[in-house]
Amino acid sequence: MTSPILTECKEGVFRIEICRPDKKNALTTAMYTALADALDLAEQDAAARVIVIHGQPGMFTAGNDLGDFLANPPLQDEPPPPVFRFLNTFSTLKKPFIAAVSGVAVGVGTTLLLHCDLVYAGASARFQLPFVSLGLCPEAASSLLLPALAGHARAAEMLLLCEPFDAAKAREAGLVNAILPDEDVIEHAMTQARKLAALPTASVKLTKQMLKSAQQELIAKTMQTEVKHFKERLVSPEAKEAFAAFFDKRKPDFSPFNQ
Ligand code: COA
Repeated sequence: MTSPILTECKEGVFRIEICRPDKKNALTTAMYTALADALDLAEQDAAARVIVIHGQPGMFTAGNDLGDFLANPPLQDEPPPPVFRFLNTFSTLKKPFIAAVSGVAVGVGTTLLLHCDLVYAGASARFQLPFVSLGLCPEAASSLLLPALAGHARAAEMLLLCEPFDAAKAREAGLVNAILPDEDVIEHAMTQARKLAALPTASVKLTKQMLKSAQQELIAKTMQTEVKHFKERLVSPEAKEAFAAFFDKRKPDFSPFNQ
C-alpha cells in the first residue's frame, strides 16, 4: 500500500505531502509516525535546507482521524504517542518550515501553522479549531501562541466557538502570509522555499532561532500542560459523544454532561 505521507528532497527543499484524499487527509497514528520521521530526516539531511508541508489543492488536512481517537486514544506517557511526537518535532524544528494550505485545515491542520515560519493559503482554505466542540482542549501550544499572535478576543472566538474561518480572516489574525489561487499555492510555497534555500543556511537558521528563542521554553511547558488535559479530555464522556456524533452524521448532545 502506498504511504499517505510522501516526501521528496530537491534543490534544498524537503517537501512533505499529506495524501489521504478519501478521508480529507485525516491523520492516523501511522501517519503521525511517518510525519515525525520525515521531519527528523529533513532536520538531519544536510541537503535539506527548508521544509515544506502541503496536501493537495483544495485539501490540507481534516486533523486527527476521529476513529483513531476513539479506537486508539494516545494516552501513554512513554514513549510519547506518535501524535505528540509529531507536535514536539514541528515545534522544535531548526530549519525553516513552510506550509501551503488550501481547503480544510482542521485541528492540527491549523495549530501546526503557528509553528511555521511562512504560511501560504489558497482562496478556499477553511481553518477550524474544533477542540472544545469535540469535548477536548487546545493542543500544540495554541493556547499560548494564538492569543499572542491574534490577541485574546480573536483567539477566544476561534478556540471557544470553534467556528470555521476563511483565508482572509486567517491573514488578518496573522496566521497567513499571503492568499493565492488554490492551484498556485503549493508552487508559490515551493518558490519561496527555493529562495530561502539559496540564502546562507547558517544565517537563515540563526535568524529562525533568534525569532523563536524567547518563546521556546514556554511553548514546551504549555504543550506539557495541554497534553495532560488533552489526554483526560480524550476519554471524557463529552468527547466520546462528539466522536460518535461525527460518525453518526448528527449533532452531538452535550446536555447530559452540562448539569
Ligand atoms: N477523522 C476521520 N474521518 C474523517 C475526518 C476525521 N477527522 N474528517 C473527514 N473524515 C472522513 C469522513 O468521515 C468521510 O468519510 P466517508 O466518506 O467514509 O463517510 C470523508 O472523510 C469525507 O468527509 P466529509 O465529512 O464527507 O467531507 P466534508 O467536505 O463534508 O467535510 C470536514 C470536511 C473536514 C469539514 C469534515 O469531514 C469534518 O468536520 N471532519 C472532522 C474534523 C475534525 O473534527 N477533526 C479533528 C480535529 S482534532
